[in-house]
Parts: sequence; structure tokens; C-alpha cells
Amino acid sequence: MLQKPKGTYDVYGEYGKKILYLEAILQTLMEKYNYEYFRTPIFEASELFHRGLGETTDIVSKETYDFKDRGDRFMTLRPEGTAGIVRSFIENKMYGSPNMPVKAWYYGPMFRYERPQSGRFREFYQFGVEVFGSNDPLVDAEVISVAVNLFRLLGLKGIKVNINTLGDTESRNNYREALLKYFKPYLNDLCEDCRNRYTKNPLRILDCKVDADKDIMKNAPKTIDYLNIESKEHFKKVQEYLKALEIDFEINPNIVRGLDYYTHTVFEVEANIQGFGSQNVLCGGGRYNNLITNLGGPETPGVGFAIGIERLLTALEFEKIELDINIGIDAYIISMSEKEKIEAFKLLQNLRLNGFNCDMDYMNRNLKSNFKQSERLNAKFVIIIGEDELKNDILTIKNNITKEEYKIDSCYIINFLDEKLGDFDE
Ligand code: HAM
Repeated sequence: MLQKPKGTYDVYGEYGKKILYLEAILQTLMEKYNYEYFRTPIFEASELFHRGLGETTDIVSKETYDFKDRGDRFMTLRPEGTAGIVRSFIENKMYGSPNMPVKAWYYGPMFRYERPQSGRFREFYQFGVEVFGSNDPLVDAEVISVAVNLFRLLGLKGIKVNINTLGDTESRNNYREALLKYFKPYLNDLCEDCRNRYTKNPLRILDCKVDADKDIMKNAPKTIDYLNIESKEHFKKVQEYLKALEIDFEINPNIVRGLDYYTHTVFEVEANIQGFGSQNVLCGGGRYNNLITNLGGPETPGVGFAIGIERLLTALEFEKIELDINIGIDAYIISMSEKEKIEAFKLLQNLRLNGFNCDMDYMNRNLKSNFKQSERLNAKFVIIIGEDELKNDILTIKNNITKEEYKIDSCYIINFLDEKLGDFDE
């Protein structure tokens, strides 16, 4: 039997409804924040990710889906959304816009060749935002608030916001020097990857999953101790603004993030729910003031985050949060024989065009199994058209919950459903 690729999943049934519900929420939320919808290609030139995310990151060195197209160009399925949005910002010359900052949101599939496990897929969906053009710490706080308010809106309680800062380029360089000095005597105690990272990108050592629990990692210098005055002030303001919005957070000096483009604020929101499992980071993000120049654009600050949709849905399930998804249909239409089928079909279209969710029998079921089917579909009403109904231009309607039965003139069906469906909302 043909099977889906490892680390991917199919969407159907209730899960599909949940996803559509979530997508609608995202759209409404982003309208409230006045963010603009962006959609960029699922594949981009490989160079974009190599330059954007950093050659030494796990994502670029081990996890990308790369291919050569038929024109011999090196392409990569996007492992994340930021690089593509930045490319689009530069290519479409949005930096020239008088409307700064440009505030973007996006939603779509990302691809990483990771070892699949619960909460970790090879194809997964992200919802993210990116704001270009303002270095104001207010924007760092706003971006964090978007993520937190989405979780709040969905009713998710078990979340924890962790923030840290890497500082500006000068602070980052000072910190890098301190790390090189610190790790030098311990090189033999580190894993092979970390020894490589030591020469190429020592910050990455702190992101190591193999050595994470070792004391040498825990006692390593902290970014916060290497900040210059501007960077300290920036971070202080971010905290002030978060407090103003009543967003609880903790400063976690170990957050350095798995991508190279960050400067200043970095943050992660984790699911703080018992039994959730190791892949508990629902959201990650931060400021990246050098990424736009690294990708060939003019000096422009940026800040954003991305939320993993699968992990978010799992968190909602863990907290037993019922989403307001539409289960069931308003009416199910049954024709008693072949003769009334066309009338049933016309009625079906008429009702649908008037805004009702309906369906009919396509399997020539008998009456009993049609009623069963209407229950499986959670139909509120069953509409029956038989010989009598056709002759007298009437419809027989049954309330599937109360089992009450009505006979009405066909022309009143819309009014009837409008009125009776109102009872279900009470
Ligand atoms: P990231 O931390 O690599 O950041 O990913 C963000 C979120 O995507 C993670 O917190 C997680 O919820 C989800 N995620 C990542 N990998 C997987 C996976 N293999 N399976 C399931 N979910 C996953 C970024 O991608 C940055 N672009 C975020 C950002 C935007 N920074 C600034 N702007």
C-alpha cells in the first residue's frame, strides 16, 4: 500500500474542522492588529536560507529538503517563513514605503528533515508575524503580545513566556569572545558537533541537545552580562512594555534560539502542561536587525515569531478546550423514489444558496438507513419529498432532536428553517 512520507500527516474529519476554525481566528486577530497577509513561495533559491539562517545552524546543515530543478537551479523547500518574507520585503522594495513599519503575517507549511516524534514533523504548519522598519522595543512587546493574546483567545492557560536578549552586534561579539575563552579548556568534553561549532559559531554550542545537561553548559557565560548600554536599555524597555500589557514572563538566559539571525530580544512560549512531552515550545521568535542587510536589503530592523500549529492544537487538546467548530448540518433531504430526486436536488441547491448547510442522499438508501445517515451527519432537520409531497407541493419535515413532525407548503421552507434553527441557538 502506498503510504504518506515519514513525518507527515493527513488532515480530514474533525481535525480538518479545527484547522479551518483556527485559520479563521488567525485572520480575524490579524485584522484587529492591522497586520497584512503575505504569502511567499513554498520553495525558494537555496541560497536564501543558507545566507539567511546561517550555514552552521542545524536547520541548514542537516534538515533542509534541497533539490535541483530541471533548469539546474538549487532550490530548497522552506524550513521556516522569515527568510522568504524578508526576501519579498526587499524584492518588492517595501522599505521605500511611507507606511513603516510593514507588519506582515503568514500561515503555511514548512519542511525540515528532522527525526519525527510526537510534536515534531517533517512537514508542519506555522503561523507567524514579521514587523519591518522599527527598532522600538514597543514592537518587540507587541509581537510577543500577538502570540500571547492568540493563546488567551483560544482559552489556553498553561503557557510560559521566556525571554532573553542577545544584544546588538557589538554585544554579541563581546559575548562570542567570552564563550570562546570559556569553552577552550573544555573542548574535549564537548560533542563533535559542538567542537565544530566552537570555530564556526560558538553561540550554537548553547543550543546543543547532546551536551545540554552538562555543568559546563549550565555555568557558561550569560548574554545578559555582555550587553552594552543601548542593548541593556532596549531589553529593559521590552520588559516594561510587557508588564504594561500584563504579560507574565521569565528571563531565561539559556535561550539563544536555533537560527543565526537574531539580535536583541529572543523569546519562546512553552506549553506548561503536565505530560505534554519534550516538544513543548509552541512559539519562537525575536528581533533580527541584521537579516535584511545580510540578504541584500538596506539597513532595516525586524522582529517576529512563528507558532507551530500542530503543537498548538495538541496543547488545546491537552487542556480539553472545545473549539467552536460547526458539527453537523442544518438539513438532510430524502427523496422517497427516483421520481422526486430532481425536486430534492433543486431544493438542496435552493437551501444552500440561501445559506443553509445541507446534504442529501446520493446512495439510493431506503428510508430507515437514510434516517441513520441523517443522524451520522448530525442533521438538525430531515426533509422528505415523496409522491404526496410532490403532488400537493408540500414538504414533510422532521426535527431530528425532538422528533416533532411538520407538513408545510414548499414555498415556506426558508422561513421555516430560519425560525426553527433559531431555537437551536437558544
Ligand atoms: P523556530 O523556533 O524554528 O522559529 O520555529 C517556530 C515554531 O515552529 C516552534 O516553536 C515550533 O512550535 C514549530 N516547529 C518548528 N519545527 C517543527 C517541527 N519539525 N515540527 C512541528 N513544529 C515545529 C522559526 O521558524 C522562526 N522563523 C521564527 C521567527 C519569526 N523568528 C522571527 N520571526
